[in-house]
Amino acid sequence: MISLFPLRRLRRLRKNEKIRSLVRETRIGLEDLVYPIFVKEGIEGREPIKSMPGQYRLSINEAVKEAKELVELGIPAIIIFGIPKHKDEIASEAYNSKGIVQRAVREIKKEVGDELIVITDVCLCEYTTHGHCGIVEDGKILNDPTLKILAKIAVSHAEAGADIVAPSDMMDGRVGAIREALDEAGYEDVAIMSYSAKYASSFYGPFREAAYSKPAFGDRKSYQMDPANFREALEEVYLDIQEGADIVMVKPALAYLDVIHAVKWEFNVPVAAYNVSGEYSLVKAAAEKGYVDEKSIVLEILTSIKRAGADIILTYHAKDVAKWLNS
Ligand code: PBG
Repeated sequence: MISLFPLRRLRRLRKNEKIRSLVRETRIGLEDLVYPIFVKEGIEGREPIKSMPGQYRLSINEAVKEAKELVELGIPAIIIFGIPKHKDEIASEAYNSKGIVQRAVREIKKEVGDELIVITDVCLCEYTTHGHCGIVEDGKILNDPTLKILAKIAVSHAEAGADIVAPSDMMDGRVGAIREALDEAGYEDVAIMSYSAKYASSFYGPFREAAYSKPAFGDRKSYQMDPANFREALEEVYLDIQEGADIVMVKPALAYLDVIHAVKWEFNVPVAAYNVSGEYSLVKAAAEKGYVDEKSIVLEILTSIKRAGADIILTYHAKDVAKWLNS
């Protein structure tokens, strides 16, 4: 006879919310969340981003206000994306000590100090006329010349007061180049969170509208990963750790839970997952239409990302989650 004991036990532990909570394996808390913000040069106030309902391009003043609000909500970290006035072939605004991100970091840090961890996205695509993440010559993205620029960007962010720099370009060798440049400049304490397994994904669509960073020609498939590849992600993560990444990231999150899971169990470094713009906007659009319940679907998604193995989640839903969890 088949014993019903195991089946009954599972039922007994689902009987009511108190018991379910007692045996719950994964909990979503604010302490793991990072909120992305866009800071735009030359504007007053805030501009709504059409493709991302509830998200804005912020002036520096607004970014400082936002930072204070995040501290009050209990969100521990932000990641800053810059939108410069001036773009050129070599992304010179990206490493300008008076550039939009550098000024924003200074002002935010002046206001909130250690109350908020400031992470900066290190990339060229928002700063180049062609919108690619590297230097372009004859229609090709050049890896090695890009490394020098990435290192300069990272050092300029560290000088401004960033706690963590996050290279999102996917050039080979950039973590090593950035680590060396930071150490040489005396920023041994500035950590690197590397976008290690970053897929060439359609889920970035809304972000590219938000940051005006759509490539003017071609796509990013020569440097970002093929969504079909899993083992290659482990290779990318391995190389980044070898080069000195302190935290590794998988991006996007929801369609890549298998990758997050594998990275978590294969390596002993903190794993971040980026719940990207397209994942956010899909939920927002469906919720606005009343097809899904926003709060429960967002909490389910974030819980699943965490269950898969993410220690840190970057998400545009962070402020809403804070309001839900704090209420
Ligand atoms: C810049 C960068 C992108 C994102 C983060 N950093 C866009 C891209 O690679 O095209 C995407 C974030 C999102 O979609 O929320 N390289």
